[in-house]
Amino acid sequence: MNEPVLLKEWLSEEARSLAESYFRIVLAAGRLTPEPGMKSDALYGDPLADALAIRGTSIVSDNAGRSVYPSYGYWRVYWPGASLELHRDREACDWTMSVAVASQSNTLPWPLEVGSGPTTTINLAPGDAVLLRGRELAHGRLTPAPGWSAWLFLHWVEDRGSYLDGRPLPAFGRGTS
Ligand SMILES: [Fe+2]
Repeated sequence: MNEPVLLKEWLSEEARSLAESYFRIVLAAGRLTPEPGMKSDALYGDPLADALAIRGTSIVSDNAGRSVYPSYGYWRVYWPGASLELHRDREACDWTMSVAVASQSNTLPWPLEVGSGPTTTINLAPGDAVLLRGRELAHGRLTPAPGWSAWLFLHWVEDRGSYLDGRPLPAFGRGTS
């Protein structure tokens, strides 16, 4: 599978709403860190993100045609005017899933561009996700964000040695291998 896969309503409305409430709580609590020059704040290694990566492992394995292992997940909020150059992800991102969780009213979709040269435009509504090979397929957001939006970025690796990005979370070893 080399093309991005759009997963419509990967989060049910009930799950999406729960995730949005959780996001608003961690944002209000000051848990997200501003990214200099990016009009974006992020929270790495959040437990809900990791839990959703575990939930997504089977569908990612199905698309990959092999076993994959969660490496890390994080929250990111983009503020109005944010954009993101085309880039490829780091080593712990054999598989990358971008999950649209919430946005300022009527400001999604915010086009995701995928590929080098002519790009493919993907539009996600809240609850939708897109799965792609993060290290191989360039992706970015070239048009300025029309409003704020909250995203979960989930990642999997094909090498179990990179399981959980090397983080010491021993409880994850029980019942998930
Ligand atoms: Fe990326």
